[in-house]
This record gives sequence, C-alpha cells and structure tokens, in this order.
Amino acid sequence: MAWIVKDSAGTEVDRRPEAYLTDALKKRFETDILVRYPTRRAALLPICHEMQHEIGYLPGQVLEEIAEFLGLSSAEVIDTVTFYEEFHLKPKGKYLIQICRSIACHLCGYKELSEKVQKKLDILPGETTEDGKYTLQELECLGACDFAPMALIDEKLHGHLDWEKLEKAIDELPD
Ligand code: FES
Repeated sequence: MAWIVKDSAGTEVDRRPEAYLTDALKKRFETDILVRYPTRRAALLPICHEMQHEIGYLPGQVLEEIAEFLGLSSAEVIDTVTFYEEFHLKPKGKYLIQICRSIACHLCGYKELSEKVQKKLDILPGETTEDGKYTLQELECLGACDFAPMALIDEKLHGHLDWEKLEKAIDELPD
C-alpha cells in the first residue's frame, strides 16, 4: 500500500476573528472535564468531542485553540483527530450516514450497501451532497455486530440491513 503524502506544513488555516474556544467554554471544561483526568493531555478526546458538538466539525483554528488550551502542539491534536473517524475536519451534511465496513458487516454485504448509497446520493464516502443534506462515511465496527450489516444515521442505529431498509431510512429523513 502506498503512503499518502500531504503538504501538511504548508496548509493554510482558515481563521475567524473571534475564538471558538471562548472563556466560558474554557471555564466549563476546567470544572467539568479537566478535573476528571490526571493530566491536561488526557482530556484531549473529550474536549475535541465537546468542540465538535458545539460547532458541528473541527476547523483548523479550533484545533490550534485546543492545543494551546491543553498545552499540546497543534501537530499532536491533528494527529489525534485524524486517527479517529468520528472527528470531522470539514463541515458535515445535515444528516450523517455511517456504514460499518468491519469484518462482520463486510461479510454481510456492507460494500453493496455503501455502493448503492453512493449511487443514490452521487457522492463517495467522505463526501457531502451538493445540497448539504447528506454526508456518507464508512467506518469501523459500531459495536453491534450481531445485527450486521449495520449503519448509523445520525444518532440512530439501523441493523440487519438490506438495501430496501437502508433506502427507506434515508428517504424518511425530513428535509
Ligand atoms: S462489524 Fe459492523 S457492527 Fe461490528
């Protein structure tokens, strides 16, 4: 397998004048999250989750702000968030359709389901439809292998899927 090499050092970070990590958020994180961890570094994942919940995704500016807040380098924060698929570095669509590609779901036909969603929405995994309504993602085990093949649409798990069930779940999402 070839390594994918990107010019990360030359990446421009889009910035807005005001901070995402406001003083109020910092205060809340200090009292609600940091007190539960032995080091500031150990709180990186919950803080990233909180910020993603606040903003909907994790723009570069917020990764830098988190790094400064926790006393880490930006590179350490970026390394972490790019390792986990649940973190999004670009804005997501209104609905996030996540299809499990791990072994049980693989054996039960995830690939065909994913390809049908790709065709229906005219996007590839990792992409968002032009109208901003749907983002498709393939990800690792959802922890419900008994019900393979599985998908998670926003917060709702859908199991024992076939195309009919998955398409119905997508079509029933409100506008
Ligand atoms: S392998 Fe798909 S839910 Fe575990």
